[in-house]
Amino acid sequence: MSQSNPETSTPRNSAASTSVGIGRILPRVRTAAELAGPPVVEFRQVTKTYNSGQPNAFIAIKDVSFVVEDLANNGEFICILGPSGCGKSTILRLIAGLEPQHPATTGEVLVLGKPICGPGADRGMVFQDYTSFDHRTVLDNVTFGLECQGVSRQQRYALGREWLQRVGLNVATDQHKYPHELSGGMRQRVAIARTLILQPRIILMDEPFGALDPQTRMNMQDLTLALWRDVHATVFFITHSIEEAVFLGDRVYVMSNSPGTMLEELALQMSDRPSKEMQRDLSFQETVYHLRDLISQLEESRRAGT
Ligand SMILES: Nc1ncnc2c1ncn2[C@@H]1O[C@H](COP(=O)(O)OP(=O)(O)OP(=O)(O)O)[C@@H](O)[C@H]1O
Ligand SMILES: [Mg+2]
Repeated sequence: MSQSNPETSTPRNSAASTSVGIGRILPRVRTAAELAGPPVVEFRQVTKTYNSGQPNAFIAIKDVSFVVEDLANNGEFICILGPSGCGKSTILRLIAGLEPQHPATTGEVLVLGKPICGPGADRGMVFQDYTSFDHRTVLDNVTFGLECQGVSRQQRYALGREWLQRVGLNVATDQHKYPHELSGGMRQRVAIARTLILQPRIILMDEPFGALDPQTRMNMQDLTLALWRDVHATVFFITHSIEEAVFLGDRVYVMSNSPGTMLEELALQMSDRPSKEMQRDLSFQETVYHLRDLISQLEESRRAGT
């Protein structure tokens, strides 16, 4: 293993981008001035200190700046990778406007040019742990948000059944089940349907497939890409699986060790085949190896406390 410091040895300071397999490492993490259009999400020198002003104050992320472009009628699939504890969930929850991550200690988090004030219907979240309401059926879980919006039962059930089908659940056999009667993969399908039914502009996914077996996980990756191509949202997706990030992402951000900063930005070619097939390509693997080396160096220096 190389002893070089990844924070200085990556090509981010060189002038041109560098190709690695199906990825292109940008010379530096982009700023708003480098985008063709306005950003959908912008972090401006965001620092989050937990328990600020107390003896147990902890700086989780420091001076984080990045921009994600608002691609009309499209939206990008953004993956965030980084060593454990570097602040990935902190970033996602800041975008969601959820406490205690929100508000940032210093800096600004903007969605479509406006500072975030709290959670909003324009942003939907899917977590790793299955977050369905235990006492509600699958159909009532999927249509919960519509119920809160006052949509009539007939309308929301019609839409709910449509979404059950779209996420690959069986309407006839699954709609009346309760969460405890579902497998992990089925529960995540419910969570995805519950989020997408509300047509959020931004979808925030925090290790959503982390607890699934490899085969189910690959099926869920294929489903996620297929659905995302229909809903035209910007997705932020956190994962510890580098293959998953390279398969799903249009763009990957790699974060440094705590306090987290954005270390590297990669633009990726779009995946045009199922996950299982893509992962066999040498160019796919080359991108994976680059990211794996970078993250192992970060993990190593985190363990060494350097
Ligand atoms: N509510 C909180 N209060 C105090 N410290 C917190 C809180 N939430 C997170 N932290 C700390 O902030 C740091 C970043 O946490 P975060 O959950 O964002 O990391 P992560 O990159 O998502 O990690 P993982 O990959 O393990 O999920 C960690 O050191 C964590 O202990
Ligand atoms: Mg996390």
